[in-house]
Amino acid sequence: MEQERERLEAELLAAIAAAGDLRGLEEIRVRALGRKGEVTALAKAVGRLPVEQRRAAGRAINALKRNIEEAITRRREELERIELERRLAGERIDVSLPPRPRPEGRVHPVSQVTEEIVAILADMGFAVAEGPDVEDDFHNFTALNIPPEHPARQMQDTFFLEAEDEKGGPLLLRTHTSPVQIRTMLAGKPPFRIIAPGRVYRRDYDMTHTPMFHQVEGLLIDRRTHMGHLKGCLIDFVRAFFERDDIPVRFRPSFFPFTEPSAEMDVGCRRGEGQLVVGAGDDWLEILGCGMVHPAVLREVGLDPDVWQGFAFGLGIDRLAMLKYGIPDLRTFFEGDLRWLRHYGFVPLDLPTTYGGLSR
Ligand code: DAH
Repeated sequence: MEQERERLEAELLAAIAAAGDLRGLEEIRVRALGRKGEVTALAKAVGRLPVEQRRAAGRAINALKRNIEEAITRRREELERIELERRLAGERIDVSLPPRPRPEGRVHPVSQVTEEIVAILADMGFAVAEGPDVEDDFHNFTALNIPPEHPARQMQDTFFLEAEDEKGGPLLLRTHTSPVQIRTMLAGKPPFRIIAPGRVYRRDYDMTHTPMFHQVEGLLIDRRTHMGHLKGCLIDFVRAFFERDDIPVRFRPSFFPFTEPSAEMDVGCRRGEGQLVVGAGDDWLEILGCGMVHPAVLREVGLDPDVWQGFAFGLGIDRLAMLKYGIPDLRTFFEGDLRWLRHYGFVPLDLPTTYGGLSR
């Protein structure tokens, strides 16, 4: 038995030292010390020895058990350390590597400028509203106080569809975002404070006109709203948008069927050498239409003009993008030329906010 024990100890210690991973080591432990293990079997055999040998043999077996257990614990700690080092080496990050390349995709200037405009006006409490591109005559014209003989309705401006609405009336591609005013006021209760960015369509095509372009409509309806609110709001807007506090602005009387009085807002600019720079200068550039919502429009949506008043404005997003970012030809916006987009586009992760900077 003595021999047997020595042989087993030597064999097990060698196996433990050779164990290459924790699983192999566990197998050895079970083989030696488990219920049917070799050391366990030897311990049982002690009971069958003559009485006078049992005591010494029992001690020797206990010492063997302890040796094997200690050897396993030591080897386990060793293997765990080796495993940890292997993982640390594998997961090491080389902080001196160059950063990732800039993302390939670019945000289109129209999307960028839309986000900028929304960011500024959202800070003033305007919520974004939407309406359909395919409109009916009522929302696009009639409800906005545009009478049937008004030139804006004529075929050369408006894309009419062959399909008709349920009442047999004409369907068309909206010529402006103003119908969203009507939809908003019909669907809710005043006060209203919304902006409606979106696509609009007109039959036109040259350097500064494309058959599809983008507008933002603004509408504010409340009690005791007046022209001073309109001016303050739009002056703040323009200064925030061009990111300059010293932009000269002026309001010129104008005409729109859906506002009374109506105005157009100009910003100061300088022209020369085929360039146009917004800011101080001796020239003016029209950038938006606005006015106090016409009582006829309010009545059309069931509001009492003696209680509710408000202002509205409409501006061309593409035009503002051309001005702010110096893009000369509107038609290039919609040609889908990747080189153009790489040049004029914006990095997707730079979201415009009024506090973080609109156009960094
Ligand atoms: N709908 C006008 C257009 O497309 C723009 C406009 C002007 C909208 C004055 C307004 C406004 O809300 O008050 O030319």
